[in-house]
Amino acid sequence: MIKPFYEGKEGLQRDEAMRSIGIAAQTIMLAAKDMGYDSCPMIGFDPAAVANFIHLPADHVIGMLLVVGKATKPANAKGGFLPVEAVVIENHFKRPC
Ligand SMILES: Cc1cc2nc3c(=O)[nH]c(=O)nc-3n(C[C@H](O)[C@H](O)[C@H](O)COP(=O)(O)O)c2cc1C
Repeated sequence: MIKPFYEGKEGLQRDEAMRSIGIAAQTIMLAAKDMGYDSCPMIGFDPAAVANFIHLPADHVIGMLLVVGKATKPANAKGGFLPVEAVVIENHFKRPC
């Protein structure tokens, strides 16, 4: 049932992969923390070089790198957070003026 939904729609396939990668990564990070480990997601890498290094098949995509291990020092202080109303939209955006 799901195959025709994605077939020929590469943008949708990639969107779905990125959605799933985000959910999976966060789950791994939370599980790691629960097991006493720390983690760090990264996108600052050369995707083509990493793909070549790990022999990535042509029909796969790398969403991020995620390292899990023991932190060598505490995390740096956060620079701050966006206000909740800037990132959580309930029902609809404000009507443009
Ligand atoms: C999807 C994602 C990708 C990230 N990529 C990088 C990266 O390439 N390089 C980097 O220094 N931090 C990256 N960060 C931020 C780090 O994961 C980390 O939060 C940051 O280095 C601060 O670490 P600290 O909280 O231990 O001080 C990324 C965060 C996310 C959520």
